[in-house]
Amino acid sequence: MIVAAPALDANYRHNANILYAYQKTSFIRLCQVAALMTANNPATDIDALLASEFPVTQHLNYLNHAAVAPWPKRTAAAVHVFADECVNEGSSHFMDWLELENALRERLAAFTGASSANDIAFLKNTSEGLSVVAHGFPWQPGDNVVISDEEFPSNRIVWESLERFGVEVRQVSLRSGKSPEDALLSSFDGKTRILAISAVQYVSGLRMDLERLGSECKKRDIAFCVDAIQALGAIKIDLQAMHIDFLAADAHKWLLGPEGIAVFYCSEKWRDRLALHQYGWHMIEHHFDFDTKVWEPAASARRFECGSNNMLGIQALSASLSLLEEIGMKEVENRVVANAESLVELIDSRDTLELITNPSPGRLAGIVTFKSKIVPTEVLHSVLTGSGVVCAMRGGGVRFSPHCYIRGEKLAAAVETAASVTK
Ligand SMILES: Cc1ncc(COP(=O)(O)O)c(C=O)c1O
Repeated sequence: MIVAAPALDANYRHNANILYAYQKTSFIRLCQVAALMTANNPATDIDALLASEFPVTQHLNYLNHAAVAPWPKRTAAAVHVFADECVNEGSSHFMDWLELENALRERLAAFTGASSANDIAFLKNTSEGLSVVAHGFPWQPGDNVVISDEEFPSNRIVWESLERFGVEVRQVSLRSGKSPEDALLSSFDGKTRILAISAVQYVSGLRMDLERLGSECKKRDIAFCVDAIQALGAIKIDLQAMHIDFLAADAHKWLLGPEGIAVFYCSEKWRDRLALHQYGWHMIEHHFDFDTKVWEPAASARRFECGSNNMLGIQALSASLSLLEEIGMKEVENRVVANAESLVELIDSRDTLELITNPSPGRLAGIVTFKSKIVPTEVLHSVLTGSGVVCAMRGGGVRFSPHCYIRGEKLAAAVETAASVTK
């Protein structure tokens, strides 16, 4: 149930309404969080809201969301209040916590286009989600899984760990076909059981056509597993339209949350076909019936959560997600892609810089990677970080990954710094 907060002053009401809708906790808690939030800041439009939520922009040029993102202020406030509550009241409000957890499952289902909150589990991280799939899947010796040769180690190692069971891992060059999707599809054969791919590649930023891949997998009865950590919170994901069977994404990049809490999606079709490898009190159907000796796995995706959840992470993710929900993923994606397009244009216009990212239409999400024609990447990276540009070195280049709240002048300043690095 979503209830409007009581009449207070306008700023307070604005913030309180958001939290009341999203946090669904007691009024006292709401007041505490709202008071700690940006209560003095009349967030009249999205730019003002984002500026108030990310004070990091005042002293850093933060272009590193593909690594670990800064939190919005509301997330810090929610964690602060939760910590206070734990100190002063322990778990007296455990039922409120549970309500928040269940509400978050519902919200994540809506956010990702899942058909039900029953499809959503909370795991530790993306790697754990991918491992649940890889080691639960009903493989036969001789089966194969198709991945790309550009995957982050998590989305390679989990599949390679199956080689001892006779599962072949096909690492496909995304440059070997008419398009990256054609390259992947042409490597399928009658023994292909899973296509496992990052929605956005962590080095090049290449954005995959998930709709096309998902519908081709569906036609061939191949399961479609997506590592979405570089996409969820940056671009719109629609699990059903994309025919995704499994998806995993930790909160600490584009979802603007903390490390150690990940969204895991498993379609209903596959839920009871994945063998379970982690057991405990929490993954059974009647998990609060501690006296029963008879049990069965939960019918929902809770069956993948063996014990107590990361309640602190859930509080934080709930608050971070509320910001993305408030802005709307269409607007968030527009801003993220516009930032990437600006970077491409700025980098392309400088003689000393060379793009690594493919700038073709539809291929950009939040990551743009480039190098210098003049100096080694280590030098470029060190000059940038020395001048307050937070960025990463990946795949032989410097990776910029601005979220929706980063303004154009920050991008221009970062590229200006990069372009002026000489020997
Ligand atoms: C594409 C991709 N997958 C997985 C990970 C690691 O995720 P986690 O630490 O949540 O397992 C990363 C981290 O950079 C990544 O870029």
